[in-house]
Amino acid sequence: MNFKEFIPDIFYVGVNDRTTSLFESLWPLPLGVSYNSYLVRGSSKIALIDGVSISECERLRQNIRNVIGAEAPDYLIINHMEPDHSGAIQVIRSFFPHITLVGNAKTLEMVKGFHGITDGVLCIADGDTLDLGGVTLRFHLTPMVHWPETMVTYVPERATIFSGDAFGCFGALNGAILDSDTDVEPYIPEMYRYYSNIVGKYGTFVQKAIAKLSPLDIKYICPTHGPVWHDHIPRVLSIYDRLSRFEAEEGVVIAYGSMYGNTAEVAEVIASRLSERGIRSIRIHDCSRTPLSYILSDIFRYRGLIIGAPTYSNSLFPPVEALVQALKNREVRGRVISTFGSFTWASQSMKRISQVLVEGKNVDPEGVAIAVDFKHAPGDEAIQRAIALADDMADRILAPAGAS
Ligand code: FEO
Repeated sequence: MNFKEFIPDIFYVGVNDRTTSLFESLWPLPLGVSYNSYLVRGSSKIALIDGVSISECERLRQNIRNVIGAEAPDYLIINHMEPDHSGAIQVIRSFFPHITLVGNAKTLEMVKGFHGITDGVLCIADGDTLDLGGVTLRFHLTPMVHWPETMVTYVPERATIFSGDAFGCFGALNGAILDSDTDVEPYIPEMYRYYSNIVGKYGTFVQKAIAKLSPLDIKYICPTHGPVWHDHIPRVLSIYDRLSRFEAEEGVVIAYGSMYGNTAEVAEVIASRLSERGIRSIRIHDCSRTPLSYILSDIFRYRGLIIGAPTYSNSLFPPVEALVQALKNREVRGRVISTFGSFTWASQSMKRISQVLVEGKNVDPEGVAIAVDFKHAPGDEAIQRAIALADDMADRILAPAGAS
């Protein structure tokens, strides 16, 4: 790991986690994840910005020692209380007994609730500053990006923002800290996945944060996960801006469940027809096999969504139920949605899909188009209706914006 001073007076002291398999015990980490922590050194004070998961606290201490030797940070700035950043607060206090914990009122309520700590804290409000001597920390509250207490810390003298989860991505750092020093392409899909999995429910608040921070002069974005953004700031801002407005690219996701292959057969027919119609980005996911994490990522990315499932125990096939509940939870909007399904004696799956999507305001009550619902195996009529479904989807996806 490179502990260089990547911005004058600002040091990276975070850690890579390549052993945890599921982030939040939910989301796969094939490329690992970094817990980014930074030191800001002024002429009179030193601040540690964000911590790490408790499993990594000893490596954090070593990294801090590598930078400041026997000195101790004066402040721990808590931009976010989720335990991947704040789980080690008590241990950090044991390392540095005189450190002051800095957060807003909601932060300190959580510090008390999670860690039982009420002393050695400093409560700041929106716009407050801390002078470290030649460098200033200024705090901007950005609630619900991703928890109620989240805030960002801005260093005006370095045009640098410590953005918490915002603008972060999965993927451990591959040696370099700055985007300028590494191939960022592996991180871009991991940014879509991170946003859709972790932050996706809070698009309105991400938009508010982007608007609030846009007047600032920002040359470096230091998130809590992934590379520090410098060269690629416009690209990263654009991805977060578009995703948080539920803007999507031309393309169709077909997400289906299938117990014995009948529903899967219709999925293939639909995909083939979409391809014939000129749709180039088609993503097919078997919900029993593709982790939900990746399906959500594609649904946030592409405009068309076709969900297929068999009826199961008079309801919806469970992996597809999990998908539609995730869409409801995230209030995904602006998608062109169609459904298809199968049953053996009583049709329930598509009613359930529509019910959950309407509850989640993912679609208007009349917004699920041309449902193909077939009994037993798909016969000629079901195949023709599946082709019609694909044609209808292609017409709406390929139509000029606003015409569908
Ligand atoms: Fe990386 Fe919301 O914690």
